[in-house]
Amino acid sequence: MTQRKGIILAGGSGTRLYPITMGLSKQLLPIYDKPMVYYPLSVLMLAGIREMAVITTPQDQAQFQRLLGDGSQWGLELTYIAQPEPEGLAQAYILAKDFLAGAPSAMVLGDNIFFGHGLPEILAAADAQTTGGTVFGYRVADPERYGVVDFAPDGTVRQIVEKPKVAPSRYAVTGLYFLDGTAPERAAKVEKSERGELEITTLLEMYLADGKLSVQQMGRGYAWLDTGTHGSLLDAGNFVRTLSERQGQQIGSPDEIAYQRGWIDADALRARAEIFGKNQYGEYLLRLLG
Ligand code: G1P
Repeated sequence: MTQRKGIILAGGSGTRLYPITMGLSKQLLPIYDKPMVYYPLSVLMLAGIREMAVITTPQDQAQFQRLLGDGSQWGLELTYIAQPEPEGLAQAYILAKDFLAGAPSAMVLGDNIFFGHGLPEILAAADAQTTGGTVFGYRVADPERYGVVDFAPDGTVRQIVEKPKVAPSRYAVTGLYFLDGTAPERAAKVEKSERGELEITTLLEMYLADGKLSVQQMGRGYAWLDTGTHGSLLDAGNFVRTLSERQGQQIGSPDEIAYQRGWIDADALRARAEIFGKNQYGEYLLRLLG
């Protein structure tokens, strides 16, 4: 079996967050004590993925490289791919075709934050599915803003609709997609939507039409946080702060996950902790060493 590879899609112009994102990529903005991209990166790591491509705009690429490097500090292998024009999420698979080289993938959007007890288990289940695709449905109050699952009366998935005026259900499709090795060739057949994008939902519909899409529920015990508006960005930061300070445990720490998984040793973790000096994050990493 070919090892699943990861894609972090961190392109886009983030216009909804202007003026903040006029000088900085959205996915580099802070969510409390860490850059936003740390959180989706951590999700791929929790899925056991070590080889990943980070897709950004050409102008933001250097900043992502400065932040994440080649990934070796976490026992990862990171590749950078530029997305010259943001033409929709499905375009990521076309851009990543050579990187994937036929391997199955897990793509996460660089602005999606997931949290929940049992996350590693549901990720492992999705990873185990090597043909077809797995996506996650999550109940939200404002489904119109997302790709929405349309269920038939018997509970099977009829279709997935991108930003419908009237949502067929309250279940949004989160920005985490486990797809098999056929994703790039399927993505090449996706036609642009009315808003001029290669929609991920069109790609998912192709899997669905072949009876190869599994929609898993991400239940109410999980948090899937939005960072798309100034208010929700602040809310996400407050959520992370509230929970991590109450529990004394980090959320979205690639350093911790790498160490726990045995991808880096104690010396490597200590070296990372030293970079952060005496701040809370550095002290936390040192405590992990016992
Ligand atoms: C995109 C997808 C949508 C998905 C959402 C998750 O929307 O097109 O299907 O539900 O991500 O974050 P966008 O962020 O481009 O509005």
